[in-house]
Amino acid sequence: MPNATVLVVDDEALIRWSLSERLKADGYHVLEADTGRAALERLADGVDLVLLDYRLPDADGLTILRKMKEIDPDILVILLTAYASVETAVQAMKSGAFHFANKPFNLDEVASQVERALETTRLRREVRAYHTNAARPYSLQRIVGASSAVTALRHLVARVAISPSSTVLLTGESGTGKDLVAKVIHYMSDRAARPFMNITCSALPEQLLESELFGHERGAFTDARLQKKGLLETADGGTVFLDEIGEMTPALQSKLLRFLEEKSFKRVGGSIDIHVDVRVIAATNRKLEEEVVRSHFRSDLYYRLNVLPIAMPSLRSHPEDIPLLTEYFIDSFNTEFRKKVLGATPAAYGVLQQYGWPGNVRELRNVIERAMLLSDRDRLDASDFAAMSRGITAADEFELPASGVDLETLERSLVIQALRRSGGNQTRAGALLGLNRDQIRYRIDKFALTAAS
Ligand SMILES: Nc1ncnc2c1ncn2[C@@H]1O[C@H](COP(=O)(O)OP(=O)(O)O)[C@@H](O)[C@H]1O
Ligand SMILES: [Mg+2]
Repeated sequence: MPNATVLVVDDEALIRWSLSERLKADGYHVLEADTGRAALERLADGVDLVLLDYRLPDADGLTILRKMKEIDPDILVILLTAYASVETAVQAMKSGAFHFANKPFNLDEVASQVERALETTRLRREVRAYHTNAARPYSLQRIVGASSAVTALRHLVARVAISPSSTVLLTGESGTGKDLVAKVIHYMSDRAARPFMNITCSALPEQLLESELFGHERGAFTDARLQKKGLLETADGGTVFLDEIGEMTPALQSKLLRFLEEKSFKRVGGSIDIHVDVRVIAATNRKLEEEVVRSHFRSDLYYRLNVLPIAMPSLRSHPEDIPLLTEYFIDSFNTEFRKKVLGATPAAYGVLQQYGWPGNVRELRNVIERAMLLSDRDRLDASDFAAMSRGITAADEFELPASGVDLETLERSLVIQALRRSGGNQTRAGALLGLNRDQIRYRIDKFALTAAS
């Protein structure tokens, strides 16, 4: 890989010199460092491979190796050691060293190790590019369903994709296809050749999320050893998908709003304005307008995001698509598991269509996956979905949101839903929740509900 940059780290000037001369002769760009600390600082200059001495004046090579991998997981490191024990070698490999070379080393051998290591990154990059391209067929057809709800959704997605800069807000319960739709929008738009970056706002604490999104300058905070580009910069020309936007803290909401209005931002700890062209697609399973009323979400940001709202239908609102979706998932798991399941029996469809699907299409997909793994039949049968027919909800699949829940509110909401579904019949409502009549009555009183609410 010509033009690759190699960093040579050794405290002995003579060793640095001999390695550098050889690598330069092979056509590499070479940087040098004589301490672990200097080596970490040089990473900011863009390094593809490091030749790292195991014994450094300020730290041992393994520690520096781990720190380098933290900063850049893709960086290649060849450890040079005069004390190669099996244990050191194992440790080095575990910490992500590509290889290690014994000191005193043979220059030809080191040079060919460098060449081989860089060749694997080139391959790795090509494989990655291939995967990105393979991921491209995120066409409209990936959104499966023949109901009017899903047909309307496909039309809307197609129109949104060709208005390439407006912000999109996807709302809907978990598992309804928000991630899927975000990708289809990106790959159908003329941004398709540019990056699609995706971040879940609830997954990171505020400070980390801020620096992931906006990047930071070196020294902006304790761990900011190097300058870092944020997602918005990396995605320039493409799309950033902000999942679970409802969990974003007020300070970050303001910063995001400013970005959406001005198309520019400052890195954390930075003073220059950085301009990027990025389409933002946000998603939430919360009712954002309610969060606005409760002052949990800025109303101005809500209106700014809500330029193109897309409300994802819950699966129970279009149960007529369940057979089609089931066939679609059977097909794809046939390929994945090398199976030849032909379909599902009418009795199985009966069970699947009467079930409530609190986890929406994701839950359906999981249920089909499990059935296909466990069943030996040609066609999936009702007995493969016994859990659904017993009316058990997928309690163990209920995922506690990162922000937690208010159990009382959840309980109240479940009681209300059960009463609605049973048309106000308390006994049947209770049965839906596994409660007897006294127990459901107790809760109806506790929450001051009327049977009709
Ligand atoms: N209409 C649909 N057609 C095909 N697959 C779907 C559809 N809706 C959701 N899925 C699939 O269901 C799973 C969950 O969807 P996802 O987009 O992750 O939901 P969300 O982001 O709303 O939680 C994914 O595997 C997705 O591909
Ligand atoms: Mg999602």
